Amino acid sequence: MFKSSHLGNLYLYSLGRYALDVIFSLINVTKGQSILLPRLICREVVDCIKEFGAQPVYYDVTRRNLMPEISESNYSSAKAVILVNYFGFPQDLSQYSTYKNNSSVVLIEDNAHGYLSRDVRGEYLGARADYGIFSPRKTLTIPNGAMLYIRQKDRVNLPRQPECTPAILTYKQSLKKLLRKRNSWGNLVLGGILLTKRLLWMFRFPKNNSGSGLSPLRIPINPWSGLKETLENLDEEGESSRRRALYIHFEQELVGIGYEKVFEKLPTFCVPYGFPFYSDDSQIGPAAAIARKQGLGVMKWPDLPDSPEGELPLYYRQLYLINFQV
Ligand SMILES: Cc1ncc(COP(=O)(O)O)c(C=O)c1O
Repeated sequence: MFKSSHLGNLYLYSLGRYALDVIFSLINVTKGQSILLPRLICREVVDCIKEFGAQPVYYDVTRRNLMPEISESNYSSAKAVILVNYFGFPQDLSQYSTYKNNSSVVLIEDNAHGYLSRDVRGEYLGARADYGIFSPRKTLTIPNGAMLYIRQKDRVNLPRQPECTPAILTYKQSLKKLLRKRNSWGNLVLGGILLTKRLLWMFRFPKNNSGSGLSPLRIPINPWSGLKETLENLDEEGESSRRRALYIHFEQELVGIGYEKVFEKLPTFCVPYGFPFYSDDSQIGPAAAIARKQGLGVMKWPDLPDSPEGELPLYYRQLYLINFQV
């Protein structure tokens, strides 16, 4: 996608949450305004909204296909609506375009999970709404890298492109890259690391709810200096085929032993982040073992905000992903 005609409308950052911050500045989000977003979301997105003093207003998504359940009245009173292409699977934006004709709401396509993915008409996800965010750092092993897409540049103040700065892979990223060169020793060590990580996660210290709840931004906004070149030189077709083939493989294997997949089918042109499925924490072992055979790991998503409003549907807490990042 980086090679396409969209290029002039893209700005580079280190993390997707910065791209969201920039959108909120450009559209003048102010204290008390409401931002509509799914309750199935990671804390970083909610933190961005709170940083601006705005009010997150949540909608739910369905168990099958993670489709938004938004009422038109909610929609039209919001300053902006965030729609998420979960795991690179396209949301159908058509109904929102219809609502939009009757209001000044800003539509933001959160495509942090879906770099390279397109909808069935062949349109790149993240470039279909007023603004889009991307986080290719999630799917490619790079030190950092995210993007902001602005659909109609002539109508808004434009952001300043932050200077690119050198960065290196963290030790964790380098280790993973090394170990994922597939051989049985590598897989064994990687399995040990993932298991330790999982145990640490299970016994992590209780979260401190007394503060603002905002997670610290640990790295500066500046994108990695190698980002543009890496994206320009990426074998997009090869990477897309690799991900689609892995999805089909894991779909067969996991559904075959009784796991429930999240999406009914893999749409044409969809380039998945990984294979999403539901599992109880206690039942994750066989899936993790199958992923390990391909040198891949299993992760739980999302890291939900500390105090989401109301009772969350149970399946929000049972969502797992075989991560195809290598
Ligand atoms: C759906 C979604 N949107 C936005 C973000 C923010 O992206 P980043 O971690 O690159 O800041 C994340 C992950 O944290 C995410 O999962």
